[in-house]
Parts: sequence; structure tokens; C-alpha cells
Amino acid sequence: MTAGRLTVGHRLALSAAALPLLVAAPALAAGPRPHQTQQQQQSGGDDLVTRGQELYQVGCVSCHGVDGRGVEERGPTLEEAGPASADFYLSSGRMPAASGAGQPGRKEPVYDADQRAALVAYVSTLGQGPPIPDIDPARGDLALGQQLYTANCAACHNSAGSGGALGQAIYAPALYPATELQVGEAVRVGPGSMPGFNEQQLNQQQLDSVVLFVTHLQDPVDRGGLPLGRVGPVPEGLVAWLVGLGLIVVAIRWIGTRDAVSLTPEPAEAAEAAEATETTGDPSVGGDEQGSSP
Ligand code: HEC
Ligand code: HEC
Repeated sequence: MTAGRLTVGHRLALSAAALPLLVAAPALAAGPRPHQTQQQQQSGGDDLVTRGQELYQVGCVSCHGVDGRGVEERGPTLEEAGPASADFYLSSGRMPAASGAGQPGRKEPVYDADQRAALVAYVSTLGQGPPIPDIDPARGDLALGQQLYTANCAACHNSAGSGGALGQAIYAPALYPATELQVGEAVRVGPGSMPGFNEQQLNQQQLDSVVLFVTHLQDPVDRGGLPLGRVGPVPEGLVAWLVGLGLIVVAIRWIGTRDAVSLTPEPAEAAEAAEATETTGDPSVGGDEQGSSP
């Protein structure tokens, strides 16, 4: 407003100096600008939703239906998805799914960040769901995170975060590729067979702590021993067994060889054995003894 009055004042002064609208017109046009910008921002938000809707009509509607109401045997309703779920499923490449059956896996995302923002904006208009969480592992506590992880996550994702099978064609994936935000989103959303955890179950500080612990699992400091691809305690035991058994076999062979040498029949004994074969007429006796000599 002040700017508007000033420009009007300027114009009056300048028109007297015979430099009328040439200079003043652009300044006057700038007067109502703040209002225009507001309108543009408004329609910018609408544009995002509109763009998201366009992408949805092409890539999602066949499985999630008109207005996200779901399609039987193809895709669930998105009326309870919300921003965190949409962002998680799109950024981890789970959506668009290849088929309506089975657990969608992590893939390279199909949509870039702008397209995902548009789709998230559109899906958010379809219903209610948890917002994208604000994650900052620096606010977390590692020991608390480990406790919470052990109590709430390790049963499915394993103490090392390497995941595991949960049942027929259902698996808890390894947590290594997930970003900090995706870990936070997964915890709030509970994708697929995973339970979701709301603010009452895990508050902000607890969530930050769990995320901090997961990043720790993703990038552990190897203290002693070999990492063995960090596949967890069972294969480590197996490796120990195989190496141990290998050593035992080598030792046995070594002892066996020495014994065989010392037990090799002396020529005199061999002659006796040959005699025995002749007298009993049983070829298997001599044959056996010859077989055991190297
Ligand atoms: C071929 C079918 C198919 C296509 C195409 C598809 N989806 Fe899905 N979508 C599914 C299925 C099946 C699930 C359930 C997956 C699960 O159980 O984890 C799902 C789950 C979701 C969820 C989680 C729902 C919830 O309640 O939290 C979101 C969000 C989602 N899809 C968004 C999208 C978006 C956005 C697109 C388009 C870019 C898309 N999907 C394309 C089949 C599909
Ligand atoms: C009952 C078993 C179960 C529990 C408990 C569980 N999860 Fe999951 N989690 C799953 C399953 C199953 C999926 C895969 C869901 C899908 O893709 O449909 C998953 C997916 C994830 C993902 C996504 C990984 C990726 O590939 O992008 C993260 C991150 C995750 N869980 C973290 C956690 C954390 C942290 C906890 C504890 C607070 C937890 N989960 C508890 C079963 C579980």
C-alpha cells in the first residue's frame, strides 16, 4: 500500500516533468503485485494436485480406482494412506506395483522427486493418514534406539537389520537401503504386514532414536572378527563349523597317514599273511590286508 501511494506520488511529480506514463506505468503495475503472487501461490498448490491427479490417472487408477477408492483384487483404497504412506511407497519404488498380487518390493523409483511430490499432494486429498514425519537422528539416543529396536523390530528384521522370511511369500526386508526418512515413514505407516507405530507407541524422541540405531546397523564399526558380509549370526556359525570341520579333516588325514605308515606290514609279516591265505584258501584275508597297505 505504501509502495502504491509512493508510486502514485511519483507519477504526479513526474507527469509535471513531462515524463508521464513511460516510467510510472511499470511502477503502478507493480503496486497490486503482492495480491497476484498470493493468487499464483494458491494456484501453484492446486497445480501440484492437478499434476498429481494427471499422473495418478495414468499410473495408479487401474489398481487404486477413481478417487482412490480401490479396485478389488488389484489395489487397496488410498482413503487411509495419507502423505507418509504415499511418499514411502513411491520413494522406495514399491509403487507403481507391477501386479496387484504379492508383496511389492523395493525398486528404483519410477517417478522423480517433483512427480512424487505431485502424487503425494494428490493422494493426500483422497483421505486421512499420517503426515510425513520430521526425522532427525541427531536428536536420538543410541542406547534407547537399540532397546526399542530389540523390543519392536528385531523379531522381524533380525538383530542385524538383515531381514528375514515371515511366512508364505512374506518377508521383512533388509533395512540397509532405507533412508532415514523412509525408516521414519515405515514406522509411522506400517507398510504391508508390518505394524505401524503412532505417537503414543513411539514418540518423536523414541522414533529419532530408532532411526539413529538403524543407521548404526547400516554402517557398523567392525570390532574384531570378520564382517562376513554382515549376514548375521547363523551363517557366521556355519562358517565357523565349515572352517573347524576342515581343520579336523586335515588333522585326521595327517594322523591317519602317519598311522598307516607305521602300521605298514613288515616284509616278514606280509609273507606270513600270504602263507595264511594259502593255508586257509580264503583270498579275502590277503586281499583285505593288501588293501589296507598304502
Ligand atoms: C498393479 C497394481 C498397482 C498399481 C499400478 C499401483 N498400485 Fe499402489 N498398491 C497396490 C497394492 C497391491 C498395494 C498393497 C501393497 C501392500 O500390501 O504393501 C498398494 C499400496 C499402495 C499404497 C499404500 C496404501 C496404504 O493404505 O497405505 C499407496 C500409498 C499406493 N499404493 C500408491 C500408489 C500410487 C501413487 C500409484 C501410482 C503411481 C500406485 N500405487 C500404483 C497396487 C498397485
Ligand atoms: C511383524 C513384523 C515386523 C515388525 C515388528 C517390524 N517390521 Fe518393518 N517391515 C516388515 C515388513 C513385512 C516390511 C515390508 C512391507 C512391504 O513392503 O509391504 C517392512 C518394511 C520395513 C521398512 C522398509 C524397508 C525398505 O525396503 O524400504 C523399514 C525401514 C522397516 N520395516 C523398519 C522397521 C522398524 C524400524 C521396526 C520397529 C520399530 C519394524 N520395521 C518393525 C515387518 C515388520
